[in-house]
Amino acid sequence: MSTTFQLDTATSRAHPTPAPMKRLTIPAIRARKDDGVTAEPIVMLTAYTARQAQLLDAHCDLLLVGDSLGQVIYGLSSSVPVTLEMMINHGAAVVRGSYHAAVVVDMPFGTYEQSPEQAFANAARLLKETGCAAVKLEGGEAMAETVAFLTQRGIPVMGHVGLTPQAVNVLGGYNARGRSDAEAQKIVDDAKALDAAGAFAVVIEGVVEPIAIAATKAIACPTIGIGGSAQCDGQVLVTEDMCGLFERVPRFVKRYANLAEEIETAAATYAGEVRARSFPGPEQTYQPRKG
Ligand code: KIV
Repeated sequence: MSTTFQLDTATSRAHPTPAPMKRLTIPAIRARKDDGVTAEPIVMLTAYTARQAQLLDAHCDLLLVGDSLGQVIYGLSSSVPVTLEMMINHGAAVVRGSYHAAVVVDMPFGTYEQSPEQAFANAARLLKETGCAAVKLEGGEAMAETVAFLTQRGIPVMGHVGLTPQAVNVLGGYNARGRSDAEAQKIVDDAKALDAAGAFAVVIEGVVEPIAIAATKAIACPTIGIGGSAQCDGQVLVTEDMCGLFERVPRFVKRYANLAEEIETAAATYAGEVRARSFPGPEQTYQPRKG
C-alpha cells in the first residue's frame, strides 16, 4: 500500500493518506524482548529531515536522529562538533515527518557527560523542543548513574556501547572494538550496567560478533546492532549508507540502493537540457494564474 502526503503549510506537518498508524511507544519497544526472546526484531534507521522521516516511518519501529548528521548533513569530520541546537532542529523535523515510529534523538558530545543534572537539563530540552520519545547517549558503566537519573525522572534512554564515535579522540579511530579479552568483557559489562540502570535498549556498534551475542544474551533489554551480529534484538544503519549515497561506507553496511548514481544521472540530464535550452519545455513553462 503506498502512502501519499499533503503538507499543511501552516504547521509544516505532513498528513499521510491513508490515516496514520498509531505511534509506537518506548515501553512497547522495550517489551519486544521478553524473557530473553525477541520474536519480532526491532527495525531502526537514522533520519535527519522531515521528508526522509516520511519515507522511512512506515517501515521502522524506531527512527534515530543520530549525531552522525554531523558528517552526513554538515560535512564535519566527526560527530564531536555537533551541537544541541542541530539535534533539536533535525529532531523536530523528524518528529513532524513521522507518525508511526518512535523517535530517538542523540545527545551530542559535551551535553551529558559532566553530571546527571547537566544530562537531565539537555535531555529535557530535546524532549520538549522536538517531541521525541527518548534520547540516546554513548558510554557504558561510566554513564550508568546518568541513565538511572534520567529514566527515574521521565526520560527514556537508549545506551550505546562498543565503538562509540564521540570518543574517537580517545579510541584513535573507528576500528572494531573488543579484540582483546579484557576489552570484550568490558563491553559486555558496559551493556549490563546500562540495562541495570534502566536503559530501554542498547546500541552495540562495531564489535566482533561473539561480543554482540554475549551482550544480547546477558541483558534483559533489547540490543540494536550496527556492525555487531544478526543475533542482536534489532538492527540500525545510517540511511544514507544503506541507500548508497556515499562511496565509502563501513564494511558491514549493505547497500540496498544506489541513490548517488541516480542523483548524479538526474543532475547531468537536467544540466544537459538547460545548456541545450530544451528545458523547460512547453509543458513545464510557468503559467501565471489568471484572476
Ligand atoms: O549517530 C548515529 O547515527 C548512531 C548510529 C550509527 C547508531 O549513533
